[in-house]
Amino acid sequence: MKKTMLLVSAVCMLATAPFAAASTPEEDMQAFRQYFKDRYPNTPFDDFQNGVYSIDASRRIEWESMEEFPPYEIGLEIGQQAFEKPFANGKTYASCFRNGGINIRQHYPYFDAATGQIKTLEGEINECRVKNGEKALKFGSGELAAVSAYMASTSNGSRINVVIPNDPRALEWYDRGKQHYYAKRGQLNMSCADCHYHYAGYNVRADLLHPALGDLSHFPVYRKKWEARGNGPLAGFGTSHRRFNGCNKQVRAKGYGAQSDEYKALEYFLTFMSNGIPINAPGVRQ
Ligand code: HEC
Repeated sequence: MKKTMLLVSAVCMLATAPFAAASTPEEDMQAFRQYFKDRYPNTPFDDFQNGVYSIDASRRIEWESMEEFPPYEIGLEIGQQAFEKPFANGKTYASCFRNGGINIRQHYPYFDAATGQIKTLEGEINECRVKNGEKALKFGSGELAAVSAYMASTSNGSRINVVIPNDPRALEWYDRGKQHYYAKRGQLNMSCADCHYHYAGYNVRADLLHPALGDLSHFPVYRKKWEARGNGPLAGFGTSHRRFNGCNKQVRAKGYGAQSDEYKALEYFLTFMSNGIPINAPGVRQ
């Protein structure tokens, strides 16, 4: 009965509503922010950078004790050394980025009008290598994630400032990412938004679902789970695309792979939703 009522009223709305104007990215972002502000009135805006630890006191205590002796420290130093070490041609990463690559993470990803592409920090790290005659690194983890984590850490405290320029191609990327976020997928037929927007704060098995506001402020992350599965001080690092892949697989959907267009679009949308949140990388996660 209830279902029928819903259906009837939905049909009526369709019939009576004049076609609703699509919302702009700015309107989407304000609504996204407001939703989480209303839902978690005790979480200060900046604190959403801390994922699940921004909404759960006991997990926060565990996490703060992890942060006292950060497990990523050695790996981050290796990332810094790799960032500073000259390539065979004598140049360094600094030559490829504005401001020498320091304090720039908050502007990524961005739309590049010359190519019509979305540029991610990880994508440009590899572009820089290839331009200088070095082999590209494997995306998603390892040295690439460590270099990216080091670069991101130099932005700590700077607020995310992703721009969607008034260019139909940029809007297309944004819409693609937004669609990915809200589309149901996989055998479990769940969207990103189901777990991290509608059901944020609920449990999935032993995990508490984090609120999506602030996503990407602390990436690449250092995960204890990845650390335990790998070897050496870089094993724990992973980029946002590595995480997206894992989350797609959780609902038994196909992952798209690090630096696929699909994940670049998703990163563009999701980072824009968190504009204004300060960078805090690398985050430590279970
Ligand atoms: C079935 C539920 C489920 C779905 C659907 C899902 N995730 Fe997750 N995701 C989780 C769980 C569980 C975790 C670990 C706990 C947490 O931080 O929420 C997680 C963690 C994450 C994290 C890390 C958060 C942090 O603080 O480091 C990101 C980012 C993320 N998910 C993004 C996504 C995106 C993007 C999608 C859609 C492609 C998605 N998730 C779909 C369950 C889900």
